[in-house]
Amino acid sequence: MSASSSSSRLTVLADDDSFAVRAHRVDAYRIHLAEGLATSGLDAHLGSLTAQLEAPEIVIVIDTGAAEHHLRTVTVAVKHTGLPFSTVPVPAGESSKTPEGLTNLISALHQNAATRRTLLLGVGGGMVCDLVTAAAATYMRGVPYALVPTTVLAQVDAAIGGKGGVDYGTAKNLLGAFHHPAGVYVDPALTSTLPERHVRAGLAEVVKVALIANPVLFAALEKTAHTLPTGQELTAIVRDAIEAKLLLLAPDPFEQKDLRRLLNLGHCIGHPYEAATGYQILHGEAVAAGTAVAASHAYLSGKTSLEERDRILNVLAAYQLPITIPQDLRETVWEGVSTVRRIRNGPLHLVLPHHPGHCTITDDIDRPAFDKALSDLATRS
Ligand SMILES: NC(=O)c1ccc[n+]([C@@H]2O[C@H](COP(=O)([O-])OP(=O)(O)OC[C@H]3O[C@@H](n4cnc5c(N)ncnc54)[C@H](O)[C@@H]3O)[C@@H](O)[C@H]2O)c1
Repeated sequence: MSASSSSSRLTVLADDDSFAVRAHRVDAYRIHLAEGLATSGLDAHLGSLTAQLEAPEIVIVIDTGAAEHHLRTVTVAVKHTGLPFSTVPVPAGESSKTPEGLTNLISALHQNAATRRTLLLGVGGGMVCDLVTAAAATYMRGVPYALVPTTVLAQVDAAIGGKGGVDYGTAKNLLGAFHHPAGVYVDPALTSTLPERHVRAGLAEVVKVALIANPVLFAALEKTAHTLPTGQELTAIVRDAIEAKLLLLAPDPFEQKDLRRLLNLGHCIGHPYEAATGYQILHGEAVAAGTAVAASHAYLSGKTSLEERDRILNVLAAYQLPITIPQDLRETVWEGVSTVRRIRNGPLHLVLPHHPGHCTITDDIDRPAFDKALSDLATRS
């Protein structure tokens, strides 16, 4: 049974010349995971969720690439609720995750007369998850939404944690908000229609989270890396990755306490690399390269052994993920790293993997060390 509820209240302490105000809000929801969930179970989950939310209708917001394969299945489940619904297709690609893309979606919601209680149902990869979360946080100051992630990356990462956002110019996720969903429905079978390259890119985020928090998952990845996981094997991997991410988010779900986050493994260098290619490489591929640079730097700075560095590089390479940055992009990537440093108004907080289940954060990496790490990787790739 779906459980989703929000409770909120304000406490006010008044004295003569000030009011001490505390706003409390608790969002509670379930992430359901099962192979085949979209064809068997999603209908019932949506039925109980919409009843609980008293939603008068549903707007399906779906990535056009995902729609080609899965719109029918999702529509069957939505029809089962008996509620009126409409469908808003979002053109595939990162270029829809922009202020223009957000405005287009908000216009479509307005045209469809969506109300404060309308349930938005985001169906697609990380792009749609981020866009729908941002739209749900913004439209009418916040409406309920649920997600059916259809890429490996979205199932293990983007749909988990309630982070929404759109890019602004070359700055990734510059606009956005934290807004938790009312439900998330993960069916790994939906990813069987993904091009292999996207499956591999999604697995890069699994390698990341396993390196940070789950050595058993990392060992499982080492075993399966030469053949892409499918079926129950993939479902188990997705499950463990979701659990690891939730545990890592738990102490600071709104990222208020500490900007030094282990989940940034691979991202300090991965994001600038992704931007330097004009987003021609996939997010997960950039994270893989960023993780490889961090592993090499960890080895060269004496934080980890050659054997552990190789375990990390071997898994990434076995999934055919990039483990270096091309020579001609290094200067641009380094400029991007410097921009990240400027935006953070301080050091980079580079996450270094020591061995699966143990990473630490070092303040920064200087240019000679960055070049040395890339030369080290060049001997491997
Ligand atoms: N919010 C977060 O915590 C978080 C975490 C990681 C990444 N992200 C974001 O996620 C985005 C990347 O997500 P992504 O890699 O899923 O990319 P994506 O959403 O762009 O999807 C990749 C491609 O797969 C297609 N597609 C989607 N589902 C399909 C399916 N089942 N079958 C066939 N094709 C399908 C899409 O049309 C698209 O062409 C980035 O914008 C990144 O910033 C967000």
